Amino acid sequence: MSMMVAPPGLSNVVVADTKVGDVNGDEGFYQYRQYSAIELATSRSFEEVWHLFVYGRLPDPGELAAFCAVTRALRTIPPELTSLLRTVALAGGERQLLAGLRTILSATALTRHSLPMWDSSPEQRVADALAVAAVTPTILAALHRIRSGEDPVSPRDDLSTAENWLYCLSGNEPEPRAARAIEQYLIATIDHGFNASTFTGRVIASTGADVVSAVCGAIGAFSGPLHGGAPDRALDALDEIAEVGDATTWANEQLAQRSRIMGFGHAVYRTADPRSDMLRDIAIDLGGPLAEFAVQVEKDVVAVLAEAYPDRSLYANVEFYAGVVMDRCGVPRTMFTPTFAVSRVVGWCANILEQAEDRKIIRPSARYVGPPVE
Ligand SMILES: CC(C)(COP(=O)(O)OP(=O)(O)OC[C@H]1O[C@@H](n2cnc3c(N)ncnc32)[C@H](O)[C@@H]1OP(=O)(O)O)[C@@H](O)C(=O)NCCC(=O)NCCS
Repeated sequence: MSMMVAPPGLSNVVVADTKVGDVNGDEGFYQYRQYSAIELATSRSFEEVWHLFVYGRLPDPGELAAFCAVTRALRTIPPELTSLLRTVALAGGERQLLAGLRTILSATALTRHSLPMWDSSPEQRVADALAVAAVTPTILAALHRIRSGEDPVSPRDDLSTAENWLYCLSGNEPEPRAARAIEQYLIATIDHGFNASTFTGRVIASTGADVVSAVCGAIGAFSGPLHGGAPDRALDALDEIAEVGDATTWANEQLAQRSRIMGFGHAVYRTADPRSDMLRDIAIDLGGPLAEFAVQVEKDVVAVLAEAYPDRSLYANVEFYAGVVMDRCGVPRTMFTPTFAVSRVVGWCANILEQAEDRKIIRPSARYVGPPVE
């Protein structure tokens, strides 16, 4: 049988058809279903866009109310997992909450007696997908609070996803401006093409496994710093630059040490990252010295990268301003990547549901380059 050799990293290889979304890296544009993602983020609620991902269309007011009622009722962690939650929270480090999320989500799948998608109806798969996305923020916030020596806060069903996320983190109702900024961030990060975590989730879904297994695999892929794990590192970098006092010197030093500058560059965009542009506006609107500093640092670092890689277009990516916005809205630094997971789980679920419709297993090949059999 003849084999095709894919390029490293499967770059530019189309491996599936999808109606979930698309990214146009050359034009700096991405879409959710048939809508501009940035337009949705600036004009819609998280729940409207979540509905769009699950059912393929924006809801009318009645559908939205019903969707909110269903998903809000799914926010609570099953009470039989209370002691496991505490054990897991205290076992991990402050930066290991995604590992804790995987563990507790697996346990929730057991309590729900979730079936493999191969054996379940489309309605059951949707119910499982809504359950996993709805409970994810509650689990993450509870793990964080227990680790910080505080009791978890019960989710409230009178709050939106963004408000409830900030409420469960701090125990206080958020300011409307902060809640809307976080909501826009959440919407803008629901989905982004066939990135590593989405692809991983779809590979697992293609085996007919259950929704939570596919989501847990996606979380594992997402936890790496080259994917979802950079917004806190980007803010750490801003702190370092503030200490050094000069972004250009700092960036040149990083490149001399062959270090990656977190929050810059993108595997797909060859233009500015549209999410970064939106978040810059939000950061400037929220105001404060950190936003002003970040705008200057962005200019300096982009200039250094342009000189070092004249053939590449390297700009700030979503994670650079994500950290600035989240910091301003009171999200603790260790919760930046978990906040990204709160939204991305909705995108993973839509991709997983779509993949489950196609009953063909994803099973590529590898070329053996080791020593021959002796
Ligand atoms: C996102 C990322 C993994 C994309 O990687 P990629 O597709 O391999 O990037 P490119 O092909 O555009 O890289 C071209 C060159 O620019 C360099 N480069 C890219 N991003 C860089 C960065 N942030 N800092 C320093 N150098 C960078 C690469 O090392 C590469 O150089 P090389 O050919 O000497 O190895 C990469 O830009 C990166 O590591 N960024 C920092 C981490 C980050 O912010 N992640 C969040 C992504 S949303």
